[in-house]
Amino acid sequence: MNIQINPDWWKTMFDEVYLLTDARSVCDDTITRHEVDAICQLLPIQTHHKILDLCGGHGRHCFELYERGFQNCTLLDYSSHLIEVARKRVMENGYPLNLIQSDARSTQLESESFDHVCIMGNSLGYINTADADSQILSEAFRLLCSDGWILVDVTNGAIAKEKFNPNTWHEIGNDIVVCRERELFENRIHAREVVLSKLKGIIRDRTYAIRLYEPPALSSLLEQVGFINLKLHTDFSPHGSKGDYGFMNHRILAIGQKPG
Ligand SMILES: C[S@@+](CC[C@H](N)C(=O)[O-])C[C@H]1O[C@@H](n2cnc3c(N)ncnc32)[C@H](O)[C@@H]1O
Repeated sequence: MNIQINPDWWKTMFDEVYLLTDARSVCDDTITRHEVDAICQLLPIQTHHKILDLCGGHGRHCFELYERGFQNCTLLDYSSHLIEVARKRVMENGYPLNLIQSDARSTQLESESFDHVCIMGNSLGYINTADADSQILSEAFRLLCSDGWILVDVTNGAIAKEKFNPNTWHEIGNDIVVCRERELFENRIHAREVVLSKLKGIIRDRTYAIRLYEPPALSSLLEQVGFINLKLHTDFSPHGSKGDYGFMNHRILAIGQKPG
């Protein structure tokens, strides 16, 4: 097997099919509540704080934070589709959520305008250039106020390697079957995802790649960017110990602070 990757895959993969293939993680309110519990436990957030959900997808963490009284949330994501999904929910429910479609490496937002930046749900490691994640974290650093906090939630690369499974499949409801084949390299996984609708036939046959971070590598990346007071929780497993949930189980939750 030799899975070929288009380096721009991440610009178009986060669409309506992603919301099906990853529904077990990103469309499950219980999982989202569990993740927002972690945000609230790990960060010193207060209801008046300004919070940026960077690479925030369709805004599930912002909406849950809003429900808990945090009303100064901004959602930024590259995917126009996911931003539109969030916009629809904002319009339907009247949530005062700022929505921005942009590249997290260079957001054009004003410096020092947030108390906290969260990068949730394994949103690093997609861009093929060596410094892309460092650029995203540097942008988060720039956007944070002095003493502000970042929370980065990524797959634990050490556990992903240990539990590596080259072939998986799961069903979603009565119609959808998601099949994945994977290749493991030193710090990367390449994958091919074929999604079959029993009614419509194949609705996706695409490849993607992700960089893996083991805890020491994530710490040193955050340190290089300038964060201090790092703390890492190295097995956040919202799905428990059974099943293959792709990159959405066995995650590292890392927090760090911008110096004052
Ligand atoms: C696995 S999804 C997780 C989304 C969300 N954080 C969640 O937990 O539901 C990864 C997200 O990162 C976004 N993303 C990846 N690279 C990005 C970049 N350079 N700029 C903005 N968004 C990015 C994708 O568009 C996608 O929505």
